[in-house]
Amino acid sequence: MLTVENLSVRFRDRFGATMAVENVSIDVRPAEIHGLVGESGAGKSTIGAAIMGLLPAAGEITAGLMRLGDTDLRTLSPAAAHRMRGKRISMIFQDPQTSLNPLMTIEDQLIETIMAHERLSSGEARSRAVGLLEEIGIANAASRIKAYPHQFSGGMRQRVVIALALCTNPELIIADEPTTALDVAVQAQVLELIQKLARTRDVGFILITHDIGVIAQVSDRVTVLRGGCVMEQGPTQRVLGQPEHPYTQALMAAVPPLDRKLERFRLPKVEGETADAADTAQAKEAEDWLLSGIGGGGPQLDVKNMTVRFDGERKGFFAPREAFVALDAVSLSVKPGSVMGLVGESGSGKSTLAKVIAALVQPSRRVP
Ligand SMILES: Nc1ncnc2c1ncn2[C@@H]1O[C@H](COP(=O)(O)OP(=O)(O)OP(=O)(O)O)[C@@H](O)[C@H]1O
Ligand SMILES: [Mg+2]
Repeated sequence: MLTVENLSVRFRDRFGATMAVENVSIDVRPAEIHGLVGESGAGKSTIGAAIMGLLPAAGEITAGLMRLGDTDLRTLSPAAAHRMRGKRISMIFQDPQTSLNPLMTIEDQLIETIMAHERLSSGEARSRAVGLLEEIGIANAASRIKAYPHQFSGGMRQRVVIALALCTNPELIIADEPTTALDVAVQAQVLELIQKLARTRDVGFILITHDIGVIAQVSDRVTVLRGGCVMEQGPTQRVLGQPEHPYTQALMAAVPPLDRKLERFRLPKVEGETADAADTAQAKEAEDWLLSGIGGGGPQLDVKNMTVRFDGERKGFFAPREAFVALDAVSLSVKPGSVMGLVGESGSGKSTLAKVIAALVQPSRRVP
């Protein structure tokens, strides 16, 4: 479906020119996830940008051929290249914040993108948008679609970005570090979604990452890049299972085994000591550090009758705003050198109390 042959890209700057990509060939089939892996500066994003026709002005394709189906991507007019990017190739970036408009609801963003590409009534576009949200795994899509991006979690936001990329039924999606900003559990869910979409929609993915674990989890084939050159290429199982190139071998060796990740946070063991002794030494050090703060004679903190009210929504035009009481006449004292525990369920006011002490939130004036 996508064929890239002997692509070379050069960047010019005032010191001369650097070859960012040299002689790279990649092909992607429908429903296939092609991983592009390599260290920072290897040229991964540059390849993605070249395919999208989004190279910065200083960048120039000096050689190579790029074809999507029967279309030669290098000979397209700027207008045709623009249409192509919007319709047949989509791109997903690392940070969902930058791809979503914080001032528009999820619904409006999806509808806007859908209607930019297809003649649909707004009702049709809306039901398409709800269907997309369901497809990417947002529960209660019909009501959640009214939310703004900040009301979604990071993982949900990245799913919405993926839904936006799907709006035009693209043949190819280039995902540049799509899970790097997410925590590990959410990362796995987003990768699963990408895999599901590749299979069910027959869409090809180029998955750009520096993380060989991500490649191992979802990609069908992989290209290992370094300094703009292909080090090794082939089916993921073969390349990661029996790496031939010394660079791929080194990359694999640098991945910490799952069961040993914690060791990196331990103090180095002293010769002759048992593991228990090393743990004890670490605990002792932590205790010394904690105790060193005690008895410093700082001031005592007193909080008296602290009340914080937030304005709620108006139920009707003439109705007064309903106030939400986050803290209701809370008093406490913290003696210097002591630790006060603040515990309670979600929404009980713990962080509000901390913020009001730090002067990030104003206490309410009238204390009942
Ligand atoms: N706008 C630019 N101007 C000049 N040189 C650039 C520009 N963009 C990238 N380069 C150079 O091209 C090479 C490849 O960069 P690229 O961004 O493609 O790497 P990458 O593999 O995506 O790295 P990362 O993992 O850090 O995102 C680097 O040597 C980089 O300095
Ligand atoms: Mg990059």
